Amino acid sequence: MNTKHIAAAVLFAGSLVITACGGGEETRKVPEGVKMPENAPSAEGGAAAGLITAADITLGEIDNAMVEKGKTTYDVKCQACHSTSENRVVGPGWKGITQRRKPEWIMNMMLNIDVMLESDPEAQKGLEQCLVRMPNQNLSKEEGRQVLEFMRTL
Ligand code: HEC
Repeated sequence: MNTKHIAAAVLFAGSLVITACGGGEETRKVPEGVKMPENAPSAEGGAAAGLITAADITLGEIDNAMVEKGKTTYDVKCQACHSTSENRVVGPGWKGITQRRKPEWIMNMMLNIDVMLESDPEAQKGLEQCLVRMPNQNLSKEEGRQVLEFMRTL
């Protein structure tokens, strides 16, 4: 390898770090005027695959007791890879996640990551950007719901 090649390699690696998962503005933003439907067609196919659908989740006022429990789970099982800011660690930061993702999608990323990586284009995009497969954290549905509640406060 001559110096030119090395410089090119360094530049390339640098651009990877910058684009990988970073803010993700271009890829993650819902286009203006597009409202995400409560019951996207994928929700039905999802139910068949054992995924959580919009009908399984009720969001009310923020429940502080649930937030506390969700935060504890986050501290133990998620913090190594996810920050509560916009910054990526290994996976995307969680700030504002409930504004850019549907609750059932978030729940399925927590509880059914393998099915999601197989069938969901957004999950696959995340893998492409982060270059790491999110490992299944074996949360119960209840724990997942508590983490979702915690996310709603970010
Ligand atoms: C070993 C690192 C690691 C751990 C630990 C981890 N994750 Fe992840 N997570 C990732 C990676 C990498 C991605 C992006 C992969 C993808 O989208 O396919 C991701 C993506 C996600 C997403 C989708 C985020 C988005 O905006 O696209 C959610 C939600 C999520 N993780 C929840 C959790 C929860 C909840 C925990 C803890 C119970 C957890 N993760 C623990 C690595 C991790």
